[in-house]
Amino acid sequence: MRVLVTSALPYINGVKHLGNLVGSMLPADVYARFMRLRGHEVVCICATDEHGTPAELAAQQAGMPVADFCREQYEIQRELGERFLLSWDYFGRSSSPRNHELTQHFARKLEEAGLIEERDTEQAYSVEDERFLPDRYIIGTCPHCSYDAARGDQCESCTRLLDPTDLIEPRSAVSGSTQIEYRRSRHLYLLQSKLVPELRAWISQQTSWPKLVTSIALKWLDEGLRDRCITRDLSWGVAVDRPGFEGKVFYVWFDAPIAYIAATADWAELAPGERDWKSWWYEADDVKYVQFMGKDNVPFHTVGFPVTLMGSGEPWKLVDTVKGLNWLNYYGSKFSTSQKRGVFMDQALDLLGPDYWRYSLLANAPESNDASFTWEGLQSAVNKDLANVFGNFLNRTLRFCERSFGTQVPAGGELGPAEAELIRALDERLEAYAQFLETIEIRKAVAELRAIWVIGNEYLQSTEPWKAIKEDRDRAAVIIRVAIQLARLFALLSRPIIPQTAERALVALGVDVATPWPGKLAAELDALPPGHAFELPDVLFQKLDDAFVAQSIETFGGEPA
Ligand code: 2FM
Ligand code: ZN
Repeated sequence: MRVLVTSALPYINGVKHLGNLVGSMLPADVYARFMRLRGHEVVCICATDEHGTPAELAAQQAGMPVADFCREQYEIQRELGERFLLSWDYFGRSSSPRNHELTQHFARKLEEAGLIEERDTEQAYSVEDERFLPDRYIIGTCPHCSYDAARGDQCESCTRLLDPTDLIEPRSAVSGSTQIEYRRSRHLYLLQSKLVPELRAWISQQTSWPKLVTSIALKWLDEGLRDRCITRDLSWGVAVDRPGFEGKVFYVWFDAPIAYIAATADWAELAPGERDWKSWWYEADDVKYVQFMGKDNVPFHTVGFPVTLMGSGEPWKLVDTVKGLNWLNYYGSKFSTSQKRGVFMDQALDLLGPDYWRYSLLANAPESNDASFTWEGLQSAVNKDLANVFGNFLNRTLRFCERSFGTQVPAGGELGPAEAELIRALDERLEAYAQFLETIEIRKAVAELRAIWVIGNEYLQSTEPWKAIKEDRDRAAVIIRVAIQLARLFALLSRPIIPQTAERALVALGVDVATPWPGKLAAELDALPPGHAFELPDVLFQKLDDAFVAQSIETFGGEPA
């Protein structure tokens, strides 16, 4: 199978917090890794979302020209992603020349299809700032949920899409000025209402979308799909190639999803002749396309972007599976980039290696509900799962072997009833784990992985090789030989979740890190022959003590906002 994976493009406006990470990029990586290990051909794409008001406002705050700001932040985000071991095939930029070209291409095609219309509109204008206030330039109270910092385009709290005129007590995000007038400005509208029957039919056909996603998409249609203004009075973005539209650009939500395609093309260009971006996106019926995103992004991916693709009249690839995630909160209230509340990707890596975060975040992924990050939760996941279960199993197995048989897989003895029982218990779990990864049920997958590790410890606990070694050396050899195979198996299975540690374990065990996904269990438990040498790895996970938790709470806060 060919699998195309995209994760929502992080805004360029600053380093992302752990909620952003677990809300799209990290699950996308787990899925891409799993699919590769299963032998599928995968292209996993992400990019920075560099246009629109988030970029302009952040650059202004940083006192930098927008282009320079974006270049700098792009490098920072790319590097942080790599340090979190996000295995993108390509991490691009929505500001790339190709995205400008493609965005204009789609606008032309939509126009040809009769889906674009010029309209005179009234736009919020700040007298004090002498400028229009599109989208995030204007903030106020949400008419639906009363959140007091809702933005002109969307309420971050209840995810509803807004118009600046919907806001109660609107004010300028630049100056705070409430002296706001409405001035006339001509804009392009995408007539999405014309595509409603097609959209509804397509959405209703989707059997593999999670309930959260389908209900958000249908709610959008049921509420009456409004034609969408796809241009803005801004200078930074993709230019609108049309008389009378000088100084206007396309709306960031129009060009950003197109950047999934553009970034794939930019990826292909790095290996001309070898990679064919179009085969992934155009008449690509054999491709399975899976998108990852936070719930606020769902309408744009299930309605907005499909309108662009369908409306073009060209055979572009539509998404097959949409994985929408809820919010990860910080102690019960929102992570916030603007208020610097919570833990950000750079700060996290200053404290602990990527696998500590990956495991604990994925184990607590906000899937069916919002979830809450706490330092106590992190400590518990690291100590109880990573250190006590996974780390401890490998450590005690290999150390016991070293003491009793040397650093090689011991020979002698035959499998007995305890091993038959072990295989039975593992078989079921393995199947479930792979199934949950396949269906992208992240929490359940991680819980299965942990349960698999636990089976290893239980096996040692019940077979007691430390006793066997005194009475029946062959029996002890069987147990330890099996336990070493389990260590190999556990490391192979753990690669999508904790890739760095899994690799360290595999290298110590003398196993190729690129070994395919485990197959039949009986064969896997025979993979390392007697005499196969291994090394003792350093401690795989350090436990987090109470002082670490206290210090972190002191630094980052540990109360609901
Ligand atoms: O919500 C966000 O963070 C957006 N930058 C996501 C864009 S996803 C895509 F379509 F580009
Ligand atoms: Zn709201």
